[in-house]
This record gives sequence, C-alpha cells and structure tokens, in this order.
Amino acid sequence: MEGEKRDKDVLIRDARFSDIDPLTNLRPPRGLHADRIRDPHLSQDARYVVAESNGRPVGFGVIHFRGDPLWDRPDQVPLVMDLWVDPDLRGRGIGKKVLRALEQTAREKGFSCVFLQVQAERNPRAVELYRKLGYQPLQSRGHRDPYHTVDDEGNVKEGTEVIVDMQKWLD
Ligand SMILES: CC(C)(COP(=O)(O)OP(=O)(O)OC[C@H]1O[C@@H](n2cnc3c(N)ncnc32)[C@H](O)[C@@H]1OP(=O)(O)O)[C@@H](O)C(=O)NCCC(=O)NCCS
Repeated sequence: MEGEKRDKDVLIRDARFSDIDPLTNLRPPRGLHADRIRDPHLSQDARYVVAESNGRPVGFGVIHFRGDPLWDRPDQVPLVMDLWVDPDLRGRGIGKKVLRALEQTAREKGFSCVFLQVQAERNPRAVELYRKLGYQPLQSRGHRDPYHTVDDEGNVKEGTEVIVDMQKWLD
C-alpha cells in the first residue's frame, strides 16, 4: 500500500536538456543521456522518458520505434531499452509505471506489440516485472550476444551476455 501511495507522486514525462546533469548523477555515463536528449533523429524515432519525484529524475526508460541495422535483431520494434530506477526507490512501482508509459506511446503510434531484451540469469527481478506486465519469452533458453560499451572516460567494456528476447501483445 505504501508503495502504491508513493507511486502516485511519480510523474512520467519526456526527458529534457535540464535532466542531463541530474540523470548523469543518478546513473553515469553522461553520454547515455546527453546523446539521446540531444539527437534530433532519436527524438523522432524513439521516446525517452524520465520518472520524476519531488522535482527530480528518479528513473528513466527509452523505447525505439525504428530498428537499427547494427542491432542483432533490427526487426524487433518497438524495442524498450535501459529501464532503470534509483536503487533507493526500487520496489515501489516506478519501473512498472515507466514501462506502462512507454507501452502506451507504442499503442498510440499504432503498434500492436512491444519487444525488450533481458539478461535473464543476471536479472531475475526484471524478468519478474516483465512477466507480470504480460511479456512472454521468445526463446526457452537465452542466446549469447556480444556487447561493446565505451564510457565517458573512454573505458571499453566487451564481453558476451546471455539474453532472452521478450514480446508483449498490446491490447
Ligand atoms: C528492473 C527495475 C527497473 C524495476 O524497477 P522497480 O521500480 O524496482 O520495479 P517495480 O517497483 O515497478 O516492481 C515491479 C515488479 O518487479 C518485481 N520486483 C520489484 N522489487 C523486487 C524485489 N525486491 N525482488 C524481486 N522482484 C521485485 C516485482 O515483480 C514487482 O511487481 P509487484 O510490485 O507487483 O510485486 C529496477 O530494479 C532497476 O532499475 N534495476 C536495474 C536496471 C535493470 O536491471 N533494468 C532492466 C534491464 S532489462
């Protein structure tokens, strides 16, 4: 009940320039947010939202409406990525609220389903959230995908991760 009460104080809105600093403090690197908020193409082909509580961002999520040829599954659109909530505020319904807002945008654009990908073994909590909201895994076992990330300091991280693709049909 407490969680539901708090959830009502959370507003989901489009990310804006003034969010770049607080979002970076919340979850570096800066480029993760700045690139999305500044890119005019991305603003047409995606929606980047923040969850705001007491005037500050406490979470975020993005949905892409156009596949990127560099993705391993460019046909899986709309694709939800980078759902994230302040660790101190998890378990209060904020992640669910962000995801529902992204799904609603897909619905309004005329899409009949939404996709996402999850590191199922490392992130059972996220899998539980997605299942509760009606997402179904597209594979019984995950597939091993390579990743390559570069942070603001130029540190490169590479490796492979076990991914499960999930899909939800929108009503
Ligand atoms: C995954 C994440 C976004 C969930 O956000 P959240 O605000 O904590 O989620 P919610 O409070 O909306 O919880 C939704 C569901 O998640 C599950 N959940 C929440 N807290 C949980 C916990 N402590 N243990 C297990 N499951 C939990 C429950 O199924 C919950 O449903 P319920 O409220 O009906 O019980 C958040 O944990 C997070 O930012 N994790 C790190 C980033 C990440 O892994 N993102 C997903 C990438 S695929």
